Parts: sequence; structure tokens; C-alpha cells
Amino acid sequence: MNPKRHLITAALPYANGPVHIGHLAGCYLPADIYVRYLRAKGEDVLFICGSDEHGVPITIKAKKEGITPQQVVDKYHKMMGDAFDEFGVSFDIYSRTSKPVHHKTASDFFRNLYDKGVFTEEVTEQYYDEKAKTFLADRYITGTCPKCGNENAYGDQCEKCGSTLSPTELINPRSTLSGEKPVLRSTKNWFLPLDKMQPGIEAYIESHKDWKTNVYGQCKSWLTQGLQPRAMTRDLDWGVKVPVDGAEGKVLYVWFDAPIGYISATKDYFEQKDDHTSSLAKATADKSAQWELWWKNKDTRLIHFIGKDNIVFHCIIFPAMLMAHGDFIVADNVPANEFLNLEGDKISTSRNWAVWLHEYLVTFKDKQDVLRYVLCSNAPEAKDNDFTWKDFQAKNNNELVAILGNFVNRTLVLTHKYYEGKVPQADEYTKGDILLLEEIGKFPARIAASLDAFRFREALAELMNLARAGNKYLAENEPWKLAATDEKRVRTVMNISLQITANLALLMEPFLPFTAKKLSDMLNLGGFKWTHAGRSDLLHAGHKINPPALLFDKIEDPAIEEQILKLHQSKIMNEIQNQVMSPAKDETSFEEFSKMDIRVGTILEAERVPKTDKLLKLKIDTGLDQRTVVSGIAGFYKPEDIIGQRVSILVNLAPRKIKGIESQGMILMAENANGELAFVLPSKEISNGGMIK
Ligand code: 2FM
Ligand code: ZN
Repeated sequence: MNPKRHLITAALPYANGPVHIGHLAGCYLPADIYVRYLRAKGEDVLFICGSDEHGVPITIKAKKEGITPQQVVDKYHKMMGDAFDEFGVSFDIYSRTSKPVHHKTASDFFRNLYDKGVFTEEVTEQYYDEKAKTFLADRYITGTCPKCGNENAYGDQCEKCGSTLSPTELINPRSTLSGEKPVLRSTKNWFLPLDKMQPGIEAYIESHKDWKTNVYGQCKSWLTQGLQPRAMTRDLDWGVKVPVDGAEGKVLYVWFDAPIGYISATKDYFEQKDDHTSSLAKATADKSAQWELWWKNKDTRLIHFIGKDNIVFHCIIFPAMLMAHGDFIVADNVPANEFLNLEGDKISTSRNWAVWLHEYLVTFKDKQDVLRYVLCSNAPEAKDNDFTWKDFQAKNNNELVAILGNFVNRTLVLTHKYYEGKVPQADEYTKGDILLLEEIGKFPARIAASLDAFRFREALAELMNLARAGNKYLAENEPWKLAATDEKRVRTVMNISLQITANLALLMEPFLPFTAKKLSDMLNLGGFKWTHAGRSDLLHAGHKINPPALLFDKIEDPAIEEQILKLHQSKIMNEIQNQVMSPAKDETSFEEFSKMDIRVGTILEAERVPKTDKLLKLKIDTGLDQRTVVSGIAGFYKPEDIIGQRVSILVNLAPRKIKGIESQGMILMAENANGELAFVLPSKEISNGGMIK
């Protein structure tokens, strides 16, 4: 295929939190590098993104922050758009799915499939909260995991043991909206019969064996398991209303509407701008013809950049929807990345284990390219990877400063020193010079080959090899030593070094756009593009360059230590804020309370109860007597550590047998959100038998 235009999409992020480095590394940075590369080659490109503003992640965030879903998406849409902008992610449009153009596009799309009879209608039993009067999305139901006993598993997943669950599998399900036990109620929804559509999807996937191994492999595994019908509507009130009779209180499944967001964002783009560069688009005044050219013409190459958790939606479900509709092209490639971890742990918005882009810029002002560099050179292209602050520092200091920055700086400083900032005329080339110039000529094609194959790390490594070649050339020729003796040779060496610098400025643009601009400005390199790279006559003799400024500077240890500390502190703060409070108990009377006889006591003996993990057998001096109590504290205290421990003990609890031992009372313990126990003690010395009331 020789495409006339490239339609590049980056996954629409949920507008439920700020952008972090995982987002950037997984999807937006590779997409941006690719788009910048295509543009630099003069291709016709449209780069589409926007906020995904529907779905349960948004409503959960609203509930947590005590604001409306609309307020959530307004807040984060702005924040995310700004962050992408600040990091040079060069979308042609950053739209949003709450826009009327999207609601209409998604609604029409659904209606089109509905009218064609594509959907099957199915009545299923779903959990309903009678107090909150609403059906419950899986994430709104918690209960005990049937696999590991975790009491706070979600309706779709247990975060403790990682099992995928369905809400009806939970033991003791509770609604997170009201705390009530939900009931099962029948409800009708519309399903996409993916089982029947499997042959078409299979043929599509099989025609794309060229896709990245991780992507193709995941698709094959879905197909091998056999596709299942999937509901395309949900009983929720936040989203695009289902446009058919009898669907009150239902919205489109967020994964039905979100990818259609790529289409509506394209429409949005043309509604806002009439003057896109495409010649055909320009020639036509009709706006619908403009967006249709990008979505309905086989000469368009559609590429979706996503993270690995989105593969099934982009490679199977969305293509199935597009094929069922019939008017649209499907993706030519879906280069998905794996995940980026942070300091050895999974990045998590809810646990605040992340490096947020807006916060990064507060400390590392104007260092967008440093982060772009580190994230690209360590991108999780084939497997999950780890971001560490130490590695960030090392890559900045040992690569950007020591290799790229150092070469450029030495070249420009010497040019100013010897030639007052004017490019010197080269004298005769040596054999070595000719070989080097030939080598330089090969870099653009090499970098392009890696980019064409979505191997961004490899492409960036090649770029750095060009800077390395420059450093090696300077080190071998030592122009600073020849300056006094061989004026001709110095001119040649400096001219070649300047040509390498100019090539670097052109070739680095997709990866390091801010630095490329800075360097191009220093070199007065206007007018040249990627397509000119590889040449050794980019800067002609006599061309004036501007005074040099450092491209990168060293990052010292304290700045890195501060980041590591901040990360751990914010995680702890978040854990405190997220502590789940047990609901208040029902009222009790003074009479009831005063029936309890609670005393101060001391543990005299302690031993494990055999064949149990949790129980200790304690002998306690209560001031009244010495008695045996079985207590479930073995997970937190070793028997030998608690001899002599002061405790509070309920002494008039009816005795009961635990593991064959009669327990005569109960020790009072305080419990934190993680279920950890601690003794409850009087704040000053009270002797055994002292009453607690
Ligand atoms: O995973 C996510 O953040 C989703 N909001 C991605 C949607 S991509 C597309 F379908 F819009
Ligand atoms: Zn579990």
C-alpha cells in the first residue's frame, strides 16, 4: 500500500486523573515521535486524540471527590490537554467525548448497526441497588473473593489475588453506593455477537502477521479462546444515551463509544479548521467530505497507538464494529506498548504511585526532552520496563550531557573561538573524512527503518550513535591541538563537525523537539527538513551561527533524592486518605454499655495455639484473678515479646471454647485500615483490676 495520508490515533485517556509517565511512555510519546517523523518527511498526517469522558472510572472518581462526573471531566480534560501540550505531544486535535459531535456520531453509529439488525437483544440478571435505585456496574460491587477470601474484592476483579471475577461470584456482595446487599434484577441489553463475527475478525488479524508480536499474540489468544457476545449497552446514567425505544436509563458501553471518539474528533477537527494541508481536502468546501476522506477512503492508512490493556478493543471489538457498519476503513497497524513500572512497582493513580507530568515540570523546568529521552530509550516496547529516578539521572548525565550535549557544545564553542561563529570552508578531505561522511549519509535511512518498524528505542539509539561518531571524530582529530600548526586541517574538521551537528538537529526533532528547535536556532538552520538529513553541505562556508548555549545540564543527587522521597511520602499520604472507615454502629444505651466489665490487666504467659496461625493462648492477671484468654493476635505479636504487656480485658464475657481451650474474656484491640492490631492501654499507670468505663 502506498498511502496518500496517515491517520494516527492515540488512545483517548480517561479524564479521571492527571497524565503520568506511564501514559507518555506507553502511547503518547511513541505516537508523537512517529507523527513528527511522518510530518518531517512531508507526509499528509492527522494526529487525533481527546479525553474519554464516559464510563465507570469517571463516575467513581466523581464519587470519591464529591463532585459531579461533569466536573471531573472538565477538570481533568483541561489538565491532560495542557500536560500533553507542555511535553510537545503534537496532536492536531485534543477533543473530548462529552462534545455534542461525539454524542451524535456514537449514537448514529449505534443506530446504524441496530437498524441493520447486527445486535442481539438479551435479558440478563444484573445486580441492582434498591436503596440507590440503580443497577450497579461491576466496580460498584464489593464482596469477599471466592478464591482468596479478600473481603474487599471488586465485582470484576480481586486486587489481592489478581483473579478476574464476575459480580455474582462474590460472597456477601455489597453495593459501594449504599452499603446494602444488592439484588438481582432482569434487564435488557444489546450485544455485539462477536462469536458470529469471528471469521471476519480472524481473516483481518491473519492478514496482519506483521503486527508487533505482543499485539498479534494477544489477538490470537482471544481468537483461540473463541469470541463471546459482548453487551454494547449498560444500565448507567453517565454516557451516550442508547438511541432506541425501550432503552431508558441505558447508555452505550464506554468501549463502544470511546473508539468512535476517533471519528468524532476528526469531525471536530474539520469543524474547527477548514484549512488542512491535504490538497484534496483543501479543494473541497464540503466539511463532511473532509473527514470522510480520512475515514472512508482506502488510501488512508489508519494506525492506533495504545497501551497493551487496550489491545482487544482496538484489534477485535472496534474493527468488528467498523466492519459491521461497512463504511469505514480499519486499522492498518496497532503498535501497542507494554507497561512502564515505577521504581519496581506498578504505576497506580489510585495509590498515587506515579510521576505526574505537571509535577515533573515544577522541579525539572524546561526539561521536557530529558523525560522524552529517558522514556523513549527505556520504552516498554516488547516487555514491561521500569523507570527509576537513578536511571533518569544516569541517562541525563551520561548520555544527554556527556555525549550529545558535549559534542554539540564543543563544536559550537570552537567555531566561535576560531571563526567568530562563521562556518569555515573545508579543505581537503582525508580518507577517514570521506568514510565518515559516507557513514553520516546512512543515518537517516537507518533511523527511518527503525521508526517505520515502530522500534523507537532502536531509532533513538541510532541518533545517539551519530553524536558518538561526532565525539569520536573530535577526539581523534583534536582540532584544539592543531589550531596553531595546521589551520587547513582545523577548518576541515570543524566544518565536518558542524555538518554532523546540523544533521543531529534535523534527525533529533521527532524525539527531542524542544532541543531540536534550540539547536536549529543556534545554527540558523531554517529551511532544512528531515529529507535533507544525511548531507554534508547543510551549512555552507561563511554561514553565521549564533552563540552557543548548553543543550543539557547535569542533574545532581539531591534533586533525585528529593523525587524518591516525594514518591514514597505521597504514597503514604494516599494510604492514609484512602483508609476505609468502618460504618458507625447502631446507637446503644448507657445501661447496655455499663454491663461490660473492662479491667486493666497484665499478660503473664503467652504461647501459640497449636495448628493455628492466628491464635495465642494467654494467661492474664486481671486484678481479680488469673485467667486464660485465647486471642487472635498471633499475626502481630510473638508470644515471647508480650510477656508483661499491659492490656485492657473484658472480664465478664461468657466463657467459650476456642480450639478446645476455654477462653475467659477478651482483650481489647485497636485495628487500622490494613487490619493490623494494637493493644488498647490506659494513658498512665493503673494497676491490675483498675476499671475502664
Ligand atoms: O484505557 C483507557 O484509558 C481508555 N480510556 C482508552 C480508550 S481508547 C479509545 F478507544 F478511545
Ligand atoms: Zn482474591
